[in-house]
Amino acid sequence: MAFPESFLQELKLRNDLTEVASSYLTLKRHGRNLVALCPFHGEKTPSFNIYTENNSFYCFGCGVGGDIITFIMKIENLDYVDAVKFLAQRAGMDMPEDSYDDSMSKLRNRVFEANREAARYYYKSLYSPEGKEGLDYFHSRMLSDRTIRHFGLGFAYGDWSSLCDYLEQKGFSHNELVAANLAVRQKSGKGIYDRFRNRVMFPIIDLRGNVIAFGGRIMTDEKPKYLNTSDTPVFKKSENLFSLNNAKNSGSRTLILCEGYMDVIAVNQAGFQNAVATLGTALTREQAMLMKRYADEVIICYDSDEAGQKATSRAIPILRGAGLLVRVLTVPGSKDPDEFIKSKGADGPAAFQALIQKSGNDVEYRLQKLRGGFNLDTPDGKVRFLEEAAGIIAGIYSPIERDVYISRLCKEFEIGKDAFVRQVNSVNRRQNRENSKKEIRRIQNDLSGRGDKLDTERSKKPRSSSAEEALVAYLINNPDAADYIDSHIAADQFQNELMRRYYTYFLNRIRDGMEPLNNLNSDFSDDERSRVYKILAKYGTVAGTRQSLDEYLGIIAEESKKLSKKDISNMTAEEIQAYLNGQRQ
Ligand code: UTP
Ligand code: MN
Repeated sequence: MAFPESFLQELKLRNDLTEVASSYLTLKRHGRNLVALCPFHGEKTPSFNIYTENNSFYCFGCGVGGDIITFIMKIENLDYVDAVKFLAQRAGMDMPEDSYDDSMSKLRNRVFEANREAARYYYKSLYSPEGKEGLDYFHSRMLSDRTIRHFGLGFAYGDWSSLCDYLEQKGFSHNELVAANLAVRQKSGKGIYDRFRNRVMFPIIDLRGNVIAFGGRIMTDEKPKYLNTSDTPVFKKSENLFSLNNAKNSGSRTLILCEGYMDVIAVNQAGFQNAVATLGTALTREQAMLMKRYADEVIICYDSDEAGQKATSRAIPILRGAGLLVRVLTVPGSKDPDEFIKSKGADGPAAFQALIQKSGNDVEYRLQKLRGGFNLDTPDGKVRFLEEAAGIIAGIYSPIERDVYISRLCKEFEIGKDAFVRQVNSVNRRQNRENSKKEIRRIQNDLSGRGDKLDTERSKKPRSSSAEEALVAYLINNPDAADYIDSHIAADQFQNELMRRYYTYFLNRIRDGMEPLNNLNSDFSDDERSRVYKILAKYGTVAGTRQSLDEYLGIIAEESKKLSKKDISNMTAEEIQAYLNGQRQ
């Protein structure tokens, strides 16, 4: 049920990882390889490596590695089969017929189709007599028909089955509707009923224009106020943003991040197309990385209530961590942006533009918040404020930026710059020391294998594990040596179970005349696949020498003769004696 090996091989030959990746990343040459800032986690110094010898990548920062198919799966957010289709299309290749299991891919497509039909149905319902309630609701919230059409807003009727009936008649099965989370299965297990009832509907559309989910708002004070599509085969709340499809065409490299659907829509109607919102959850790293692909700067525009302020403080480091510049827009008078714009009537757009212009960056925002906590009329209050402020300024990456804030505060508080600079520098040194300690600990853990969940044996048997890893890497890089290796070592001499599995797997593939790495995506889990690329990155993707190979084989043979404590406790006295005699020879 997998793709034919020859097809995968050709696919990879025709799609060069370096070439494909360079359309997503800025690559820098580093010896034989290329490096870039990792697109899968936020970082300031590049740890994402592309190995040109075998068209693979590995990131030392987040530990993700793989071939071009994995790269496309991750960067385009596609499943395996769809990533293969994507690459086949790119290279002008036909997909092989019937040889692979694309049931998941088919289901995903059916869910997209069901969602699209549902969005059309909801939109039409809004303009039907029974949908008047929904249309009136949107109008009461000052949305124009143009805005309603632009966002494809809609209405879900109050009965239990109108959408299901409609989609079933269009040929969708119960299974498909439940998978799309448009329908819910009855407790009895027999029938299904509509998930969204008597709500105004907001479709969520991905970057390819697929409808992937919905949010539905109740028009009264009942709870829950908003009901959202749960995670489905095509939708993960934590990895998508409302209206990014629209915002990415705004022509601006700045995004306005709001809390809610209505805020994004109101901001759009006021003329700012570059607004997005999370989908009822706190901002995630994935969402920040997604924004980074379309923007250099994000203006946080959350509600001005306490919850909104807390969410702002939490969002700042996540956005910064993704390498984005951050500004914070404060809406006056405990309002959300939607309420603010509306309260200004015809002046809404201009008033909002003024808020954008006034929005300070995240450092200013944090200093402003800090000020509130001290009585700056007293010398004591001033000192404590400045000490804490030094902490915030010390965390700024750019020295020029640091200097701007230092100068500003020194002027305001009429203090000498030297003293304050010393304070900032000392905090900065401490932060750097802590960071490098953390980094050293991370590297130590990585080297020793402590806390390694995938390979729990490496920390206990470092010597044999390292030799076994090196041997696996050697075997992958030198399939010709398979017979030689096999004649010198047996799989059961491996102490490390994961390495034994890899060894057996690669040896068998080579015996069968197949490319060792060709089918890792189907045969291993994500973590297991990434680990193979980690080992290759660690031991070099270039061929090792025959001499080093003999060293690995020697260590593995030697270590396999040592008995573990567990073995010894199960042995009889005679057996132990025999073992010791054998050791002495
Ligand atoms: P808010 O409660 O601030 O709502 O939730 P809002 O955006 O101002 O909506 P209106 O103006 O009352 O219509 C902010 C966002 O949190 C999510 C939604 O995405 C909402 O837009 N949310 C809120 C939910 O998912 N479920 C809820 O029950 C409430
Ligand atoms: Mn609101």
